[in-house]
Amino acid sequence: MSENVLQPYCKKCSSDAAACDFTCFPRVLMHGEKGNGGIWAATGVPKRYRNSFLSTLPTAEQNPQAHKFVTRYIEKVTSLVERGVGLYLYSMPNAENRKGTGTGKTTIATAILNEFTIKRVIENVKGENTFTDHPSLFVKASELQNTFNEQFRGTDDSRQKATTKFSRYKKQMLSTELLVIDDIALRGTTEAYQDVFYEIIDKRYNEELATIFTSNTPLDNLGEVLNYQIASRVEGMTEGVLLKGKDNRKGGIL
Ligand SMILES: Nc1ncnc2c1ncn2[C@@H]1O[C@H](COP(=O)(O)OP(=O)(O)OP(=O)(O)O)[C@@H](O)[C@H]1O
Ligand SMILES: [Mg+2]
Repeated sequence: MSENVLQPYCKKCSSDAAACDFTCFPRVLMHGEKGNGGIWAATGVPKRYRNSFLSTLPTAEQNPQAHKFVTRYIEKVTSLVERGVGLYLYSMPNAENRKGTGTGKTTIATAILNEFTIKRVIENVKGENTFTDHPSLFVKASELQNTFNEQFRGTDDSRQKATTKFSRYKKQMLSTELLVIDDIALRGTTEAYQDVFYEIIDKRYNEELATIFTSNTPLDNLGEVLNYQIASRVEGMTEGVLLKGKDNRKGGIL
């Protein structure tokens, strides 16, 4: 069988790996019958970040303060999400790192989402705090924006597909307990997109639903790239976490 992220938390399969199969309800809920579906796949976390957890965060040395803060957040993640406490993980472009890239923002955001998903599935299975909808969702802002734009160009068929995809995004983004929006404010947006993005952010703000943003734009400049109504709500629903330093993506593969 393929990997099961619940294994370290399960008395039965951590002692007997062979017992960890499709007859196990928590496993099937998390990974689907074939091992590649379920809640884990539905979070939308990209493959590169599927193994991002608190224990593997690489940020302690370069960003000790942010690392400590994030560690505390993850330790209390279910109650903080329930209280609607979100984060704004950002970098500031500087001489050493001109775009503020590769500082660990997406790695941290996905570690939080992954840890939260595991905790919520365990709670759900134990019947302590059940969920009816998916508890968490990762959305890349540029993909959301592209899907929105595709509704208005191309063939009838591709427009229809984009409309269906965008409505699904919107519905899930309005209701999921923990939403990660990756790389907001990467580029300018049309007014039509801003309207719908505002609607999503405003609803999550009003309903006190936790949202984690990653961005290379400091909050003070967010209003100029998106708009001031959106920026004000993002600021009101998050704690800022600055990630400093070089781009860690650079470097060879050996
Ligand atoms: N402090 C760090 N030390 C070592 N490696 C790191 C550190 N931060 C990030 N990395 C690694 O660098 C790569 C890029 O990290 P990540 O995608 O989280 O960056 P990002 O801040 O989201 O970048 P971008 O702004 O381009 O989206 C990953 O492989 C990650 O494991
Ligand atoms: Mg990123």
